[in-house]
Amino acid sequence: MAKILENIKVADRIYKLVVEGNFKGEMGQFFMIRGWEEFPLLSRPLSIHDKTHESITFLYRIEGSGTDKLSKLKSGDKLKLEGPYGNGYPKTKGKVAIVGGGIGIAPLLYTAKGLKKYIEKLDIYLGFTDTSYLTDEFKKYADNLYVSVGDFITEKINVDEYDYIFTCGPEIMMKKIVDMTKGKNVKTYVSIEKHMACGVGACLVCSCKTKNGMSRVCKDGPVYDGEDVYYE
Ligand code: FES
Repeated sequence: MAKILENIKVADRIYKLVVEGNFKGEMGQFFMIRGWEEFPLLSRPLSIHDKTHESITFLYRIEGSGTDKLSKLKSGDKLKLEGPYGNGYPKTKGKVAIVGGGIGIAPLLYTAKGLKKYIEKLDIYLGFTDTSYLTDEFKKYADNLYVSVGDFITEKINVDEYDYIFTCGPEIMMKKIVDMTKGKNVKTYVSIEKHMACGVGACLVCSCKTKNGMSRVCKDGPVYDGEDVYYE
């Protein structure tokens, strides 16, 4: 069990959870958070939002009784973390845009931090429905930061400026980006979110339809070539 250092509200239903420990993990990978044994059972995939040698940070939205209970935990309380799981975003070079929508920004801060070390240019686009949050954290790694609230963030992107686009958020937003890059010399990687149970490829709860057949998001993803996914 790992100790919670901080579990704070950053926006309506959005919480930042910091857990003590030197955890392994690459950009875009996730952990299964298994908090307790009694009802409601907590078994949630939470992607790595940030990480240092002393702690790991997750960003989550209250979606049901499990995450509601998670939001009530305080510093000093204990949690069980299993992972890291999944493939994560590739390490690329060149000019990259990161595009996050809503709680989909969760894996993108650590991704920005990781990419910034060796790429030529990093622009970050963040879209929110009602209120923006944590944009200053992203600003640290961005050559240019664009934020939209209540508007389509995709309208701000000129895909011709980039070699790669890394995105996470609503499928409709990610599909739009993939459509915008069709026939162009830019590759898109999407992070797909699905309900999960086992987190290790055994139960098929997280199935996703791709051009290569049905895929297990927890094991084969969550990051896919944007053109390989059939969006819902
Ligand atoms: Fe069980 Fe993915 S969550 S196979």
